[in-house]
Amino acid sequence: MATIGQRQGPAATAMLGLGVYRPERLVTNDEVCEVLDSNDEWIQTRSGIRTRRYAGEHESLVDMATIAGERALAASGVAIADIGTVIVATSTHAQHTPAAAPLVADRLGSKAAAFDVSAGCAGFCHALSVASDLVRGGTARHVLVIGVEKLSMFLDPTDRGTAFIFADGAGAVVVGAADEPGIGPVAWGSDGSQSHVITQSMRCNELDSEHSLVVQMEGTQVFRWAPFAMADVAREAVSEAGLELTDLDVFVPHQANLRITETLARNLKLPEGIVIARDVQDAGNTSAASVPLAIEALLRGGEAKPGDTALLIAFGAGLSYAGQVVTLPAMEA
Ligand SMILES: CC(C)(COP(=O)(O)OP(=O)(O)OC[C@H]1O[C@@H](n2cnc3c(N)ncnc32)[C@H](O)[C@@H]1OP(=O)(O)O)[C@@H](O)C(=O)NCCC(=O)NCCS
Repeated sequence: MATIGQRQGPAATAMLGLGVYRPERLVTNDEVCEVLDSNDEWIQTRSGIRTRRYAGEHESLVDMATIAGERALAASGVAIADIGTVIVATSTHAQHTPAAAPLVADRLGSKAAAFDVSAGCAGFCHALSVASDLVRGGTARHVLVIGVEKLSMFLDPTDRGTAFIFADGAGAVVVGAADEPGIGPVAWGSDGSQSHVITQSMRCNELDSEHSLVVQMEGTQVFRWAPFAMADVAREAVSEAGLELTDLDVFVPHQANLRITETLARNLKLPEGIVIARDVQDAGNTSAASVPLAIEALLRGGEAKPGDTALLIAFGAGLSYAGQVVTLPAMEA
């Protein structure tokens, strides 16, 4: 029997640079409530959201992903020619075929392997884990990971459970070899028995000219599940990294809803002084883009700095979830 050769990668990986794209169009709660039967005070009290951003009508998901990707490449100092794989995490690419990633790779000038990851709001943390393992396994020297959503295209503006929550944006990182581990082991899983909790309104083959596809959510169910189940996942990710909660500088949960973040932080009994991401207040819930966008907000505001130790936890449709301890990257100046 022939012995098949194997690749071998470096022992440690890290996020080498971060880039994001926030669409220009800022949408206030008052604007959302021009159509939605709700009000600014209710939305802020129940979700923490003050504003969100929507992509322009002619601004595509691939446009947003490409800009974030370019910025991550610039921040990391890695040339596009050195990217071996492009992974796009998204649930709002309007086509099943082809995936968004080959289109983004092409726009960036790359012929690298490129594929999408569909894990709802947990997509970025799934893709980050896959990227780290691709590098450690020697399959790619560098991987470009992009979380991107254009949820504004899939919203029913009159739905009181979703219209004020979801928004658009993109965040990207380059993953590559590092002297010290900067991406810890992933803690992840799924519960497909709860697939109905966050889902699309109809199957693609049921579409007709009178109906459009929108996101639907049983918000109360998400609220009952996430702050408790994710505390266990967070503890597992920290333990798998060989650390204690007291070793963390920063907590970056998926920016679903401020009340979920605060209940989760309380349940985890996070140490005093840990910085907690609250980008949902300004950006809404951008699903697979929310974690890199929230990291960027903390770095830009000076609340966190490159090199800080952060716990990432993301959760959403599937239900799916993933989290890991990371070292925060630098972003484009
Ligand atoms: C969506 C969410 C804000 C709704 O809050 P809730 O407290 O569960 O709301 P309920 O549906 O139980 O409704 C409570 C009351 O608010 C009202 N209400 C619901 N949505 C409303 C809205 N958008 N504006 C004003 N009032 C609203 C209801 O009519 C109800 O009124 P009543 O008590 O007089 O009957 C909440 O469930 C939530 O944030 N869930 C998590 C969702 C999330 O972040 N998902 C991210 C997925 S990754």
